[in-house]
Amino acid sequence: MKGLILSGGKGTRLYPLTYTLAKQLIPVANKPVLVRVIESIRDAGVHDIGVVIAPTTGQDIKTALGDGSRWGVNLTYIMQPSPDGLAHAVKISRDFLGDDRFVMFLGDNVIQGGINRLISDFAGSGWNSQIVLKEVENPRQYGVAKLRADGTIECLIEKPADPPSNLALVGIYMFDATIWEAVNTIQPSRRGELEITDAIQWLIDAGRTVYPHVHQGWWIDTGKPMDMLEANGLVLEELTPTIAADAVIENSQVDRRVTVEKGARIINSTVRGPAIIGENTVIENSYVGPFTSIYHHVTIQNCEIERSIVLEHSAVRDLDVRLQDSLIGRYATVCRNDERPKAMKMNLGDHSTLWTV
Ligand code: G1P
Repeated sequence: MKGLILSGGKGTRLYPLTYTLAKQLIPVANKPVLVRVIESIRDAGVHDIGVVIAPTTGQDIKTALGDGSRWGVNLTYIMQPSPDGLAHAVKISRDFLGDDRFVMFLGDNVIQGGINRLISDFAGSGWNSQIVLKEVENPRQYGVAKLRADGTIECLIEKPADPPSNLALVGIYMFDATIWEAVNTIQPSRRGELEITDAIQWLIDAGRTVYPHVHQGWWIDTGKPMDMLEANGLVLEELTPTIAADAVIENSQVDRRVTVEKGARIINSTVRGPAIIGENTVIENSYVGPFTSIYHHVTIQNCEIERSIVLEHSAVRDLDVRLQDSLIGRYATVCRNDERPKAMKMNLGDHSTLWTV
């Protein structure tokens, strides 16, 4: 069995972070979503993994992941020259995949509980494909499945205006070699893409067996800032907390659900978990509240922050309001202005959002 991770996509809904950072490399609980995907596939026993990349962000992804040996996997990069759809990404991965069975995992999806059982169910079955479904409140923004009373799939529709059910297609799919005829036969959709949803519908129409697994745990497609924060909170809740041996905790309250990474220093502060404080980060005279991930080389001084993600090399200082529900990029500074005139000063990137109180 092989793995295929799709890691193209521009991530426009995560601007401005994704102007300079591939969305799949944004960390959730201090680990890029893409690395979480690699680890889930590896933990299910699959070590040969193709990573489909786009010209814009591909090099960054290669630099971040290398040959995969750090995670005990072999990575092969496959360039998708233009965003022509998920089924197109499968099509151009033919040389890598051969006729093997494979699991395809979208590089921005985070799922509770890993995929071990999904993979072993598929490996031990005669199914041509397995898809994963999850009940959602907003099915219009996903592929949607309608099941029959006996649990088999009646039809699949990509982003329907009038959804026939609330069962969304999760970005994890398993296929055997019958997928080749499907991706080579379907035509581009109205949005001009070869849709994987259409390829699976083609399999169903051709009488192939597509097994729908309905997932009971949580699942997040990290497309928007609020999704990132939600995924961050959910993953933090499942993290087994550890405190690095060389971390410094001085005159501070750090509760049991907090992970403190190497070289971090927490001084005169309170940190309430679930939270994670990254390598060589300094928290001083501050409050860090639940569901917060502070990445490496960050300074948090004289302020309060909660339910937020702060990326590497940033600084948050001297705020007299609590920072909450925030996503702060790399090398950013957020601080108070004590000079006259007492006004807000901003240096925001394109598509930034700032809410003041
Ligand atoms: C893609 C699929 C969609 C699926 C979703 C899951 O949508 O086309 O069927 O439900 O991933 O993340 P996209 O995120 O490309 O809009």
